[in-house]
Amino acid sequence: MTGTSSRAFPPSRRLVLGGALGLAACNRRADAQAWPAEVPPLKHVAPFPVGSCVQAGQLDDPDWVVLARTHVSQLTPEWEMKMEYIVQDDGSLRFDRPDRIAAFARENGMRLFGHALVWYAQKPEGFLRLDESRVSFGKAYDNYIAAVVGRYRGASGWDVVNEAVAEDGDGWRDSLWASRLGDLDHMVRAFRAAKAADPDAVLFINDYNLETIPRKLETYMRLIDRLLAAGAPLDGIGCQTHVDAGLAEGALERTLNALARFGLPIHLSELDVSLVRARRPLAGRSALEAAQARVYAEAAAAFAALPRSQRFAFTLWGLRDGDSWLVRENASDRPVPFDNTGAAKPAAAALARALAGGG
Ligand code: G3I
Repeated sequence: MTGTSSRAFPPSRRLVLGGALGLAACNRRADAQAWPAEVPPLKHVAPFPVGSCVQAGQLDDPDWVVLARTHVSQLTPEWEMKMEYIVQDDGSLRFDRPDRIAAFARENGMRLFGHALVWYAQKPEGFLRLDESRVSFGKAYDNYIAAVVGRYRGASGWDVVNEAVAEDGDGWRDSLWASRLGDLDHMVRAFRAAKAADPDAVLFINDYNLETIPRKLETYMRLIDRLLAAGAPLDGIGCQTHVDAGLAEGALERTLNALARFGLPIHLSELDVSLVRARRPLAGRSALEAAQARVYAEAAAAFAALPRSQRFAFTLWGLRDGDSWLVRENASDRPVPFDNTGAAKPAAAALARALAGGG
């Protein structure tokens, strides 16, 4: 069911929410915010592509399919187009699930955004066990990127390098790729291999916590300068935007405006707004949801305020709460615009209003 209904939380759901959110024993039925009326299709009210992440298993869930067809025009594979899925221990590559996702996007007139080619967090056995008497590490690296980007030629773009900046912003992350192929060189090499495989794809660097760690944003921007100076075919800048309901007003707008100074397309690439991570244990459910709605609205308004040429896509990292990685991390969280039945939450209504206002 993807309709909406006006409802407060039935008793059974209180036990789930009462944990991490530290909800006081208030009268939640009076406290619970009435659910918004049906929201219009987000992809129609927004003057730029609206996306979502996807897992192949969701393609077999008719409720997810209806929600995705209604609201989004671009899909980002959440994990099945990464090395962790594609690269087998013997070095062979498997594409069954990313192929399904690519076919679904094509059949439904949606853009496919490739995610992610090179990531510090993934160093598959297939590379660690490489027989370098037969193929060099660098050649295997190039071959992998060419095979994946070439297979999905026509994708709107790729996260070529994901999360290269250190957690605290103090320099760049160490990784298998950096140690084998050079701190900056492995990144330039990845962009060049991707560009050779699909000259029309918009090639992105992508990172997170840019809104909340000024040093990380500075280092990210310096890295972008270095890559451009080194001649990397870097075409776009990703701002993941995994934030929480306590995000300071204006932080998102300042971050996007700073990144926009390069004049390149911006992908707000992985938006979700955690309630649990807001660390407001005494806040009631409605107060947290109102704060969350405000953050979604600011994200949409800040992105919509970018120059039209720089609005690549506005991507949600999950449509329904149960689809979210954050809920897999903490079952009490409710980070995305629709609830588990596909009903629009206050965040969805706020998002739709803000997207509609983005001329
Ligand atoms: O679906 C399988 C399940 O069948 C299996 O039993 C289980 C245990 O092996 O794994 C399940 O797949 C997991 C998948 O999430 C779906 O839950 C993968 O192991 C797990 O690695 C994967 O995690 C993803 C993570 O990136 C690593 O790829 C998350 O879904 C995904 O939300 C997260 O997304 C990242 C972005 O790529 C980069 N930015 C941060 C963001 C959040 O961490």
